[in-house]
Amino acid sequence: MAAFSKDQVTVIDHPVVHRDLTILRDKNTPTAPFRQALARIATILAYHSLISIPLRETRVTTPIQDTTGFELNSNIIVVPILRAGLGLVDGIIQFIPDAKVGHLGMYRDETTHKPIDYYVKLPDGIKTSFVLLVDPMLATGGSAHDAIGYLKKQGAKKILFMCLISAPEGIRHILDNHPDVHIVTAAIDDCLNNEAFIVPGLGDAGDRIFGTL
Ligand code: PRP
Repeated sequence: MAAFSKDQVTVIDHPVVHRDLTILRDKNTPTAPFRQALARIATILAYHSLISIPLRETRVTTPIQDTTGFELNSNIIVVPILRAGLGLVDGIIQFIPDAKVGHLGMYRDETTHKPIDYYVKLPDGIKTSFVLLVDPMLATGGSAHDAIGYLKKQGAKKILFMCLISAPEGIRHILDNHPDVHIVTAAIDDCLNNEAFIVPGLGDAGDRIFGTL
């Protein structure tokens, strides 16, 4: 496996993630268990992605007495890259139900492998929020690179990219262009094939989530 600094890339090593990734990689897994495994992993990835967001101290009154409590010190905006990123949103919202959700529509041209934007709708507050950009797959990195560039143009300052499976090529592309963006992933696979699919990967995540094979 390619080595990247832990300051830049977090690879989640968790038994449930390994088990669920295997379900997702299996080409015979039907849509329902595929979606369930994806949602479980998304919750675990969200836990790790939000592990260092700042807190502010507050006071809370228990039935016994006053004590110290905590509130999150910034709003969280989850931005799935459409379409496949949508498959991660429910699992993330399970963990952080008050997060706002923005949508960024992009698809990869099948010939050029370049990302094409087709839809954008973001909530207010992007400049001051913690932005969790999510997509199951980081292949060449073109889509994530464009999405990060777009969010930065809108004023986003704190962006974390969360994905399920990444290729070393895609990670390198993001780190070279956006050294300020941390990546949280469940796996770094071997490489890309001639069609820019991740090897071994899980195939086309969007098609498997939405049953459009
Ligand atoms: C896939 C995937 C990423 C992108 C990754 O989306 O979900 O968005 O490709 O490839 P890249 O790193 O080389 O840009 P796809 O274009 O298949 O669209 P979909 O989400 O609509 O299925």
